[in-house]
Amino acid sequence: MSDSHLMPEGTLSLQTIAMPADTNWSGDVFGGWIVSQMDLAGAIHAERFSQGRCATISINQMNFLVPVKVGNVVSCYTKILHVGNTSIQMQIEVWESHDRSRAPIQVTEGVFTFVAVDSNGSKRQIPAEAKQQFLDAQAS
Ligand SMILES: CC(C)(COP(=O)(O)OP(=O)(O)OC[C@H]1O[C@@H](n2cnc3c(N)ncnc32)[C@H](O)[C@@H]1OP(=O)(O)O)[C@@H](O)C(=O)NCCC(=O)NCCS
Repeated sequence: MSDSHLMPEGTLSLQTIAMPADTNWSGDVFGGWIVSQMDLAGAIHAERFSQGRCATISINQMNFLVPVKVGNVVSCYTKILHVGNTSIQMQIEVWESHDRSRAPIQVTEGVFTFVAVDSNGSKRQIPAEAKQQFLDAQAS
């Protein structure tokens, strides 16, 4: 996992606000809620990219750098790292911001892998044109 950096990397795939129901007894947001937002953000990007349904097959090591408080805006940025035959490996970063008085702060990041699946939940090939677009963008 790379170190935290000053600016988010990737596409803003999901943005929401942490609510009181998302907190633990200390008033901080549950880590599981944050992972859930990351999974949703990654699925949105993976499904748009692969033109169909996707399932999460793995979540790699994650470190939580700062707590998220109620009312903070939580932004999930997604970046495709690798496209296989049926899988998409994606870096997902979470950043939080309170108001315009300070710059956003990175909360966590992780590498998620999604598998393109059909309506029966069986794996399917990533469309060739989508994969080619990704490879072309990598090369440029
Ligand atoms: C997704 C699913 C259909 C894949 O079927 P499968 O027969 O297990 O698939 P495979 O083992 O052939 O792997 C499919 C792809 O995922 C990759 N993969 C498998 N396990 C992986 C892992 N632990 N980490 C990263 N990639 C992995 C494979 O390399 C392969 O990639 P490629 O086709 O691009 O080369 C099946 O595993 C499944 O339904 N899992 C449950 C998904 C789910 O419910 N997720 C929500 C969690 S509650």
